[in-house]
Amino acid sequence: MTGVDREWWKRAVFYQIYPRSFMDSDGDGVGDLPGIRSRLPYLASLGVDALWISPFFKSPMKDFGYDVADYRDVDPLFGSLDDCRALVDEAHRLGIRVLLDLVANHTSEEHPWFVEARASRANPRHSWYLWHPIARRNALGRPVPPNNWKCLFELRSAWFENAATDELYLGTFTRHQPELDWRNPAVPAEFADILRFWFELGVDGFRLDVATAYFKDAELRSNPFSWKPLDLFQRHVYDRNRPEVFGALAELRKVADERGDRVLVGETHGRDASLAAACHGERGEGLHMAFNFDFLFRPWSAKAFRDSARAWYAALPEGAWPNFTLSNHDQIRHARRYRKAGYTDARAKVAAAMLLTLRGSPFLYYGEELGMEGGYPPRGQLRDPLGIATWPLRAYGRDPERTPMQWDSSQNAGFTTGTPWLPLERGWRERNVERELRDPGSVLSFYVSMIALRRSRPELALGSLAFLGDDPGVLAYERRGEGGVSGEGRVLVILNFDAKARRAELPSDGSVLLGTHREPGARIQAGTAVLSPCEVLLLAPAERKYPEA
Ligand code: BGC
Ligand code: MG
Repeated sequence: MTGVDREWWKRAVFYQIYPRSFMDSDGDGVGDLPGIRSRLPYLASLGVDALWISPFFKSPMKDFGYDVADYRDVDPLFGSLDDCRALVDEAHRLGIRVLLDLVANHTSEEHPWFVEARASRANPRHSWYLWHPIARRNALGRPVPPNNWKCLFELRSAWFENAATDELYLGTFTRHQPELDWRNPAVPAEFADILRFWFELGVDGFRLDVATAYFKDAELRSNPFSWKPLDLFQRHVYDRNRPEVFGALAELRKVADERGDRVLVGETHGRDASLAAACHGERGEGLHMAFNFDFLFRPWSAKAFRDSARAWYAALPEGAWPNFTLSNHDQIRHARRYRKAGYTDARAKVAAAMLLTLRGSPFLYYGEELGMEGGYPPRGQLRDPLGIATWPLRAYGRDPERTPMQWDSSQNAGFTTGTPWLPLERGWRERNVERELRDPGSVLSFYVSMIALRRSRPELALGSLAFLGDDPGVLAYERRGEGGVSGEGRVLVILNFDAKARRAELPSDGSVLLGTHREPGARIQAGTAVLSPCEVLLLAPAERKYPEA
């Protein structure tokens, strides 16, 4: 990559890889870095600009890598630091940037910092973590926690006993993920150095895991009640989402800016638009992007997505750049959420067209380009601690969205020569890269064409956006280049969410750029057009050119 392009991430299509599940190179049934490297040509031909790879650092894997025991090394399961270097170099050669995943809210209980910290209150590392002295015990002899904070993946109190110091430590995910004290200046300083370490190696940025959880209420107040079961019936105003975090994010931003073009994308409790907005900082001194997870929870309706996008655009401060996600490693895949007999793939294309043409950086999740829906392992094969704790409530466990990538119709879909760590989803013999690339009507072929079109038309990434109409079943908008890097072009995007034919008003004549039901180049006249069920229609409006005065 030549020259410094500071704003590359505004044009980029991001692609999330869950490394356990992407490609296994050594037959142990678990994906790894050499595996990802071997599939880079595929990612280049798909046309994505940047990868975000979920954690592959040294870890006892109690939360599959979101429990880090060494932030500066690769877990042998995934390879070595040299493998990481080779992956980053090769990706760059192909024009693909690489983001890693920084888990800075908590460490693994096996991290040497915590091993030292828990040994004695006098140890200098002790103050790197959050503690509460055991003051009282209940009738069963269990320590009474200082508040009602919950351990999300174990569905119990988030406070765990540490006998050696006669204290409780905090773990709001699992007991194996003790939480750091970000009020201790040594902690942010250490993470700044960790960022520098990876930037030096060539990494282009980070996704920041639970970035709004770094600070907890200084007085450890109990959370108030909420009606939301997914939030464990609490409003998380004291165990995360504290205002102190904005300053810490701005400090991390400074470290990224030392290198000019590195990018930080925070997981910031992604349905709260105002909180996400605040994470950018008032003058853009915070995160480059704060994840927008609202689409993960929207029903299948043009209106729902239009309302959601509008609300996010309105909430973001001047200069902040939006982003959109339909699937990730923590949520049911969207092809499954939106499935409808006879229309599941058609809907996947409508969703892709929306994600790839809205104003904001799209984040794809591996396999969504195939229309993967996820798989439901039997109880005995569950791996996710959350799924195990909440069995049989299938809606909660995260194994379904983590099944192996489907490469071809050979054994184990070409993912591994061994036994895959999670069983493959049903139907992989038909739904895989090799097959779908041969089928021009496949979901994958659609993604390839959409991403190529997006690349060739800067207004689709960088132009302005104006919604057209308020039809509950049809989502329509115009993307318009505003000169400079966004070009001068215009594209009309018309998406029929309905499984029935529907009418749409076309403001001008146009020719088809890409569509699911019409040939590229076909002309369409202004006025009422009849859209087929789940039709995607991207038009170049006819321009009337006036000579410049
Ligand atoms: C990650 C999860 C992880 C948790 C704890 C998140 O929000 O996306 O996969 O379990 O943080 O690190
Ligand atoms: Mg392996």
